[in-house]
Amino acid sequence: MGKLVVIDHPLIQHKISLIRDKQTGTKDFRNLVEEIAMLMAYEVTRDLPLKEVEIETPVAKAKTKVISGKTIGVVPILRAGLGMVNGILSLVPAAKVGHIGLYRDPETLLPVEYYCKLPTDASERDFIIVDPMLATGGSACGAITLLKQRGVKNIKLVCLIAAPEGVAAVRKEHDDVDIFVAAVDERLNDHGYIVPGLGDAGDRLFGTK
Ligand code: PRP
Ligand code: URA
Repeated sequence: MGKLVVIDHPLIQHKISLIRDKQTGTKDFRNLVEEIAMLMAYEVTRDLPLKEVEIETPVAKAKTKVISGKTIGVVPILRAGLGMVNGILSLVPAAKVGHIGLYRDPETLLPVEYYCKLPTDASERDFIIVDPMLATGGSACGAITLLKQRGVKNIKLVCLIAAPEGVAAVRKEHDDVDIFVAAVDERLNDHGYIVPGLGDAGDRLFGTK
């Protein structure tokens, strides 16, 4: 069973409050989303396997540890997931980046796929899917399914704010996936928006409304 990790580090909680504030403009919103993603990446990568290597310091030979095992892929769900990519890459610079384009039909709230480009060696990588909002969970479940269809075995989902409904949906469809969030909010409203949430993450990131 995958785990749900709510990362409640004070720096993250502080920055989450700032992005919730409707007075926060596009430039600050974008910077904050990137910073929060970077801080979350520290926790998300906590279980990366290490292997021992021998190096030579200026003083002596030393046995030390470096990251081993499968290489990592990062997949933002377009558009809003793009805002988190550089934050993750600043800690995992060797990761390759795939893109999955999904938008939520405003009537049905179901995800509609419009783009999917993954690294050619996707099946050999562990993946981190990023998207600021986990609302009904339809987009996240769709992205996880696309990765699994490409043979990916180990997937982590990283979102900033989740609704309980979204967490439950991912749990139900993909109970092997670990979910990392900075906050689980109260509920969804009738339009599928997270309450209190932060509004439309894509529009706030890119200034489209
Ligand atoms: C938002 C958000 C998620 C999705 C979450 O994207 O970035 O991808 O909604 O909702 P769900 O959990 O109910 O699927 P949106 O569809 O607004 O597209 P955008 O990022 O292009 O604005
Ligand atoms: N997508 C968003 O951007 N915000 C929400 O609250 C729900 C879905």
